[in-house]
Amino acid sequence: MAYRKSCPLVLALLSVIFYSSVVLAVPVSYNVVSFGAKADGETDSTEAFSTAWSQACASENPADVYVPAGRFYLRQVVFNGPCNNNAIRIRIDGTLVAPSNYMVPGNGGNWLLFSAVNGVTISGGILDGQGTGLWACKNSGKNCPDGASTLQFSNSKNIVVSGLTSINSQMFHIVVNGCNNVKMQGVKIAASGDSPNTDGIHVQLSSGVTILNSKIGTGDDCISIGPGATNLWIENVACGPGHGISIGSLGKDQIEAGVQNITVTTAIFTGTQNGVRIKSWGRPSNGFARSILFQHVLMVNVQNPIVIDQNYCPSNEGCPGQVSGVKISDVTYQDIHGTSATQVAVNLDCSSMYPCSGIRLQDVKLTYNNNQAAQASCNHAAGTTSGFVQPAGCL
Ligand SMILES: *[C@@H]1O[C@H](CO)[C@@H](O)[C@H](O)[C@H]1NC(C)=O
Repeated sequence: MAYRKSCPLVLALLSVIFYSSVVLAVPVSYNVVSFGAKADGETDSTEAFSTAWSQACASENPADVYVPAGRFYLRQVVFNGPCNNNAIRIRIDGTLVAPSNYMVPGNGGNWLLFSAVNGVTISGGILDGQGTGLWACKNSGKNCPDGASTLQFSNSKNIVVSGLTSINSQMFHIVVNGCNNVKMQGVKIAASGDSPNTDGIHVQLSSGVTILNSKIGTGDDCISIGPGATNLWIENVACGPGHGISIGSLGKDQIEAGVQNITVTTAIFTGTQNGVRIKSWGRPSNGFARSILFQHVLMVNVQNPIVIDQNYCPSNEGCPGQVSGVKISDVTYQDIHGTSATQVAVNLDCSSMYPCSGIRLQDVKLTYNNNQAAQASCNHAAGTTSGFVQPAGCL
C-alpha cells in the first residue's frame, strides 16, 4: 500500500524536475550577495558583481543576475561577452553606487560597461553616479578629468533596459555605441540642470534603437544622437531641464557615418535650452542627416524650440571661416505646439555650401511672451509648409 502510494509521488517529482530544467529552462539565478557583495554602500562589491556576471555568462542556459535591495558600492565593472547563452537578465532591486572620488572611475571611460554581449535585459534598479563633486570641479573652471559615463553598451545586440533609474552621472548617463536592436523603456534620468556633459542617453553607430516612455532631466542633451545612428525611434519622452533632443554635433570629422531614419514622436520639453535640434560643426565633412521626423511635440517655455545650427564652433577653435560639409535633407516638423522663451522660435541656420533641403513644417504653432506670434529665421534652408504654420514666412 505504502509502495503503491509513493510511486506516483516520485514520478510527479521527477517530472517537475524534468520539466523545470529542460522544458521551461527556468533561468539559473546568481545573487550577487552569495558572491560576497554587501548592501552597506561602502564595502567594495566589484569582485562579487564580476564573478556573478562571469557565471551567468558561462551558463549554457538562460541566467539571472540578481541584485537585492540596498546600496552596493562598485568601482568600474566590465560585463564582457560573448556569453554561452543569449538570455541574461539582470534584475536589480537595489542601488549601485559609484565612487564619489571622481579619480577612481577614471578619465573619459565608463563606470558600468557591457561589451560584445547579445541578449541582455536589465530591469529595475538605481544607478547613482555620484557626480556632484566632478560637476563642482568643472563648474569652478579648474582642470578636471572628463569623468566616467554611468552605463555603456558597446558592440552589443538585443538589449533591453526597463524601469532603470540613473541619477547624478559624472558624464553621460547611458551610452549606446555600435549596437543593434536596443530597447529602453520606462527609464528615468535625473541630474541637476547645471551639471556639465551629463547627456541623458547618447546613441551613435547603432541601428534599431528604441527609447520609450522615459523621463529625462539633466544638464546637457536629454537625448543626443551621434554619427552613424540609423533607424532610431523615440516615443513618449519628457525632457527638462536639459538641452533638448539633439542630432549632433555632427561633422566634427572629415570622414563620418551619416544619420538616417530618426523618429521623435510624442515628446514634451519643459524649460529646456532647445527642443528639437540638429547641429553640425562648421567644418568640412562627408556626414549627413536625412529622413528625420519630429512629430507631436509640446514645447513649454523652451529657449530654441526648433533649431538647426550648422555653424557650431565652440571656443572658435578649428572651424572659423569654414563651412559645414554635413548635408541635411528630408526633415519634417509636424504638429509642434507651445511656447518659446525667446522671440525666435524657429531658427534654421544651414550650411552655405550644402543648403538644407526638403524641410517640411506642418501644423506648427509656437508663441512667445503671452501669446504673441514668435519669429522664424532661415538661412540656406529650402522646403515647404502646410497646414497652419506660425511663425511663418521663413521657408
Ligand atoms: C526606419 O526605422 C524604423 C524603426 O525606427 C523601422 O521600423 C523602419 O523600417 C525604418 N525604415 C527604413 C526605410 O529603413
